[in-house]
Amino acid sequence: MREAMARAAVGDDVYGDDPTVNRLEAAVAELLGTEDAVYVPTGTMSNQIAVRAHTQPGDGVLIDHSSHVYTNEAGGMAALSGVLPRLLPGVRGIFTPADVRAMLGVPSRFSVTTLGTPIRLLCLENTHNAGGGKVWGLDQIQAVTDVAREKGISTHLDGARLWNASVATGIPEKTYAKHFDSISVCFSKGLGAPVGSALCGTKEFIARARRFKQQFGGGFRQAGIIAAGALYAVCHNRERLAEDHAHAKLFAEGIQGCPGIEIDPAAVETNIARFKITSMPAPELAERLFAKGLRVLPAGADGMRAIPYLNISRQQILDAVAIIRGVLGS
Ligand SMILES: Cc1ncc(COP(=O)(O)O)c(C=O)c1O
Repeated sequence: MREAMARAAVGDDVYGDDPTVNRLEAAVAELLGTEDAVYVPTGTMSNQIAVRAHTQPGDGVLIDHSSHVYTNEAGGMAALSGVLPRLLPGVRGIFTPADVRAMLGVPSRFSVTTLGTPIRLLCLENTHNAGGGKVWGLDQIQAVTDVAREKGISTHLDGARLWNASVATGIPEKTYAKHFDSISVCFSKGLGAPVGSALCGTKEFIARARRFKQQFGGGFRQAGIIAAGALYAVCHNRERLAEDHAHAKLFAEGIQGCPGIEIDPAAVETNIARFKITSMPAPELAERLFAKGLRVLPAGADGMRAIPYLNISRQQILDAVAIIRGVLGS
């Protein structure tokens, strides 16, 4: 990857003449089965551009209460797009057509349409980060996006880890993508590229997205150097995600039964192992593991998130389990 980056031909992405960025965008659009794609610095920017491009200030956005776009993007929906999130009660990120319909209400001659917030966008996250890498079923996706289409609501997929969903299920990325008006994918995270995400959609939508990329400060000149890393990651590192999935499962099985830990290895579907710690606050466990060289993220008072990734070996997973067992005394 570093060699590909060093050799990358570059131009000025703001003028659309960086050949490596253009190759990356074409490759990703092809993979996702969309007309076009735009390379941007982060998954956060990609999602927030999508929200901005689909909506106008004052619009409502239907989104799961624990989704990354809502909880972990620094209030971007409100600050950058002026939209009102309407929260869906997803379970591990999965919500139902009934949940969507419940938000839309029932029109009648007594309802005043100007009172409510016009819902313009439905967002979905696959795999779901806070949901522990939960994968949406295609039928579930079809059911909720059908409701959106029926009501004239646009759809956006935060597919930061769509690659993981595809590897776990064998369903190609483009089969997931065809249900959405826009899709964001990340080249960092599991794929191992240093920088970047892409937002995919129709030519018209991506042309509009390019305007907001520039407005949000994402026009990045000789970006071919980093795009070459992303292109390498897409071409070489997708299939190996299965190894991360096996490692996450191995980790979950290893710490199951440890005093103070609650985890269900069967719930580990991809590369994220989330568990509960009941014997001490999660940040304290994170500190104690950190002191032993193990980095596991605390999430709230009693939640922990472990993610294996590229270059982490099976032996390191076993070492991680031993460190946790050592700290918790089993
Ligand atoms: C589901 C999901 N979407 C979007 C993002 C944002 O990606 P980035 O860190 O590149 O902004 C993340 C990051 O963890 C994520 O987990």
